[in-house]
Amino acid sequence: MDLGIKGRRAIVTGGSSGIGFETARQFLEEGARVLITGRNQQKLEKARDDLAKRTGGEVHAAVADMTKESDIAKMVETAKQKLGGVDILVNNAGQMYSGRFASIKDDELKTQLETKLFGFMRAIRAVYPMMKAQKWGRIVNTIGGAGKEPDPYMFGSAMTNSALLNLTKSLSEEFGEDNVLVNAICPGWVATDLWVRNTEGMKKEFGVASEAEARKIAAKKNSLGRMGKPEELANATVFLCSERASYITGVAVNLDGGRLKGLW
Ligand SMILES: NC(=O)c1ccc[n+]([C@@H]2O[C@H](COP(=O)([O-])OP(=O)(O)OC[C@H]3O[C@@H](n4cnc5c(N)ncnc54)[C@H](OP(=O)(O)O)[C@@H]3O)[C@@H](O)[C@H]2O)c1
Repeated sequence: MDLGIKGRRAIVTGGSSGIGFETARQFLEEGARVLITGRNQQKLEKARDDLAKRTGGEVHAAVADMTKESDIAKMVETAKQKLGGVDILVNNAGQMYSGRFASIKDDELKTQLETKLFGFMRAIRAVYPMMKAQKWGRIVNTIGGAGKEPDPYMFGSAMTNSALLNLTKSLSEEFGEDNVLVNAICPGWVATDLWVRNTEGMKKEFGVASEAEARKIAAKKNSLGRMGKPEELANATVFLCSERASYITGVAVNLDGGRLKGLW
């Protein structure tokens, strides 16, 4: 299926690994022109070179910490210089902030909010005028299932995620008349570096000794009985950013192998 986004200009934040890397790869396979971001320059440049080699597409890189407004402004400036504008924004950069209520620290929760809630919102603020002017835009926010179904262990991420769901829906309403579509994906457990970084907490939470056991328990929580692969998340994001998704806005798609059991 031709997704109709050849030549479209996309920013993928956090494109240096995991879900963001796969999203950038699929955009490039579709003929889109891409800017990826991340904080670690070496990792980012390696990802850019790897993507270019694998796809033969046009891919650029800009170091940007999403907690810093000035970095977000620089990221968008780079997109203007290298790509001539922005048609697609995938707000994906982020961390998980896990732990039960008693362990939550205000400063760490603020960092999570700065990274995902404010980081996503500021990036949208910076690209929206371009999308509005050209009457075409796609924004996808990578959120997370705990925003829909509270989980005590995911308290910090969940509060951030619920706010992001509200932001997504609200902006989809506001930007609709400009043909700027705003959607979200809600990953369940996906096998990325993020999962590995959080292994110790998971082992403790699940009461098991090894990462393998923790993975098994996490996987059993969904209907398919396995964790997601980054490319499975990217499939949906790239579709939502495509011409084929021209009548979809304000949705938050669960990409969790059936983890959430609610009807909506
Ligand atoms: N994996 C899961 O199970 C899961 C579940 C629910 C939601 N998610 C969400 O999915 C998104 C992608 O995560 P992933 O699993 O693909 O993890 P990942 O492999 O660790 O990738 C995260 C990406 O974000 C970048 N990043 C992290 N913090 C950043 C910051 N403050 N500013 C700029 N870039 C930053 C990282 O690069 P640097 O470290 O170099 O900055 C990296 O490129 C995240 O928003 C995460 O919350 C993941």
